[in-house]
Amino acid sequence: MAELLVSAPAKINLHLEVLGLRPDGFHELAMVMQTLDLCDTLSLKPTADGLVQLRVDRSDLPTDGSNLIVKAAELLKARVGLPELGVSMELQKRIPIGAGLAGGSSNGAAALVGLNALWGTGFSQQQLLAMAAELGSDMPFCIGGGTQLCFGRGEVLEPVPLEQPPSLAVLLIKHPEASVSTPWAYKRCREQRGDGYLAQESEFEQRRQVLRQGPLLAALGGEAALPEIRNDLQGVVEPEVESVRTGLALLRRAHGAVAVAMSGSGPSLFALFPDRELAQQAQQDLAADLSGAGFEAWVCRCTGSGATLD
Ligand code: C5P
Repeated sequence: MAELLVSAPAKINLHLEVLGLRPDGFHELAMVMQTLDLCDTLSLKPTADGLVQLRVDRSDLPTDGSNLIVKAAELLKARVGLPELGVSMELQKRIPIGAGLAGGSSNGAAALVGLNALWGTGFSQQQLLAMAAELGSDMPFCIGGGTQLCFGRGEVLEPVPLEQPPSLAVLLIKHPEASVSTPWAYKRCREQRGDGYLAQESEFEQRRQVLRQGPLLAALGGEAALPEIRNDLQGVVEPEVESVRTGLALLRRAHGAVAVAMSGSGPSLFALFPDRELAQQAQQDLAADLSGAGFEAWVCRCTGSGATLD
């Protein structure tokens, strides 16, 4: 087989609620995640030397076994029991790194989906999702993408039944020098809120039900106005990271924005608009202030798919 291209989309969190702490040390979450049309591209070429090789078009990303792409390839090889399978991979990076946009998880998901096709390993979607969950909490979502409820530590998925992706446009911003460690954000959350965490499965389920039946999902289906976005990690990160405070203040000034929030554990931030024209106008209006404060900015659409073979 010749070269295969896989797109790996970024995600934002339209809801991130920390419910409690699990016996495995992870947090029990209730989230709504949404893929965007901001994508990395992973190219794959089969080789017969049994080696998993990765090149990346920037120097600040590891290409060894610590990269989720390489982890995904090695896991797939191990599961199918064919050590002779080899691949030469190249990643073109567009999603900001360490940003709360699941760039790394999406790259790993793209490797699972792409290599399953390239190597003809024949794993089902269900098997790929299970492998993805072994590698990272956000990775199963990145396989299917679209608009999904994500529970458990993030890997328990329930697609939101929408006829089409939400028509919202997204103005996304990220300060290139800012980064937030996800383990740090969750640890800080535990220190601040641990006493108030829920503990019973019945309490978790009650919160899941509130989310399933609440105004956010109705708004995404176009049936109601968008409520304020909840991200419990924003309250933890905002006081500690100056660029998050500055960026949120800038986005809150955007004309026509219906919601403003941080994505994941940050530090990327976004504003939602009813249509692309308003998002582009806001990007123009804020351009001088955004670049003055050092932010990069993108206008994106919501999409209905995750890692996809091109
Ligand atoms: O699963 P992933 O590698 O993406 O998680 C990174 C870190 O984020 C975990 O090691 C943990 O510290 C924290 N985390 C958490 N609860 C989750 C997901 C992540 O505490 N549900």
